[in-house]
Amino acid sequence: MSETKKLFVKTYGCQMNVYDSQRMQDVLAPLGYQPVDDPKGADMVILNTCHIREKASEKVFSDLGRIRKHKKAKEANGKDRMIVAVAGCVAQAEGAELMRREPMVDMVFGPQTYHRLPEMVARANRAIGRDRIIDTDFPAEEKFDHLPEQVSRQGFSAFLAIQEGCDKFCTFCVVPYTRGAEYSRPGMDVINEARQLVAKGTREITLLGQNVNAYHGAGPTGGEWSLGRLLRELSDIDGLDRIRYTTSHPRDVDDDLIAAHRDLPKLMPFLHLPVQAGSDRVLQAMNRKHDGAGYRDIVAKLKDACPDLALSSDFIVGFPGESDKDFEDTMQMVRDITFIQAFSFKYSPRPGTPASAMELQVPEPVKTERIMRLQALLAEQQLEFNRNCLGREMDVLLERFGKLDGQLVGKSPYMQPVHVSGLPETALGQIVRLKIIEALPNSLGGELVDTPVQKRDSERNVA
Ligand code: SAH
Ligand code: SF4
Ligand code: F3S
Repeated sequence: MSETKKLFVKTYGCQMNVYDSQRMQDVLAPLGYQPVDDPKGADMVILNTCHIREKASEKVFSDLGRIRKHKKAKEANGKDRMIVAVAGCVAQAEGAELMRREPMVDMVFGPQTYHRLPEMVARANRAIGRDRIIDTDFPAEEKFDHLPEQVSRQGFSAFLAIQEGCDKFCTFCVVPYTRGAEYSRPGMDVINEARQLVAKGTREITLLGQNVNAYHGAGPTGGEWSLGRLLRELSDIDGLDRIRYTTSHPRDVDDDLIAAHRDLPKLMPFLHLPVQAGSDRVLQAMNRKHDGAGYRDIVAKLKDACPDLALSSDFIVGFPGESDKDFEDTMQMVRDITFIQAFSFKYSPRPGTPASAMELQVPEPVKTERIMRLQALLAEQQLEFNRNCLGREMDVLLERFGKLDGQLVGKSPYMQPVHVSGLPETALGQIVRLKIIEALPNSLGGELVDTPVQKRDSERNVA
């Protein structure tokens, strides 16, 4: 057993990064690295970064300023060492420049190379001939094949990456450049990881991919599994009670997936299906590969299959060339579809993407005015949905302690946080049926109506 070392990992960006950070910890555990909550005094610091918008990238540089002080303090005695590593999408996009600009960074590696961490750490720790390391390859070997087969224990709700990378090339987006080409993990690898998680206490799994419904993993007996097929197989795992997937692309919603929403009670009736904009002109300039009518059509089919399905979305306002009329089309789309939750962003020009070079960039004040209007409408829809939950009964997976004494917090089928008081600590990890008695903009309050459901959440009662 190696000597224990302290590892501090900070995660920015999307759920895929959360998953990657967890796997980095799995890779480093055999070398003696144990996670800690504070960078102060750590033997290794990893910033797992996001490049999606300008603000996300800038955050990394300001955090590095703070880390520099901790590194100086730790290394002041001339003996101790703090390895500072920048990982993730900023590392991939700007690795070389980052190394030049920040001499105290010891290591830079992209999202596809962290299985090589043990070797990188050994090189960075050498007493003589110590290297600064940069590894932003898209290696020929598949990362997933080289990660430890064992995953560490996760929460009652866990992420599982099944697909990574993107071949869609939306004109605003850096992801195809930072994550590389689409890759789907073999079906049985996913099933095995899910079984391990469930054996360690997980009850809800969210399948992850940049384009998760483009999933087409190798099946065990030849051929390929679609996401629909994978969901059916996962659904057979005893003790796994809830399944979700994110992020899906409207272009890749096929009949099989729609049927899964009809057939699988474990598949939660909440779907993040980003539309980005409501105007056909803008959707085309974004290279989203569908128009407004196409999106409406998919939503109608999904709701046909699963009438209690609710949706969330991402929106970009102020895409180059977006006129007042285009923006009104987005507002109309929101009014027509209704989203119970959403993320909306001002368009941020990203280096190397086609949209950043487009003419007719929208002035900042116009973006601000539009995003405020859009967010007001979305907040209204979210509150209305929450209010409509009053009096309903919902199955809630209790996950953590609340802010108040004796309070527990869980998630509804629709991902709403629900708090409840008066239940014992042992109720954590259980799915309980709660009657909703309080509705706030971002959460609900409930009271127990039944004894805890131990095994299954097979009945949705929130139609
Ligand atoms: N794969 C997902 C999106 C991943 S990025 C999909 O296809 O929907 C998450 C969100 O960030 C996007 O949905 C988009 O709304 C937003 N985003 C991406 N690039 C952006 C940019 N340059 N400016 C503003 N928002 C952006
Ligand atoms: Fe980015 Fe578009 Fe790919 Fe989503 S589908 S990751 S928005 S390029
Ligand atoms: Fe950000 Fe990379 Fe995810 S750019 S959103 S961390 S894929």
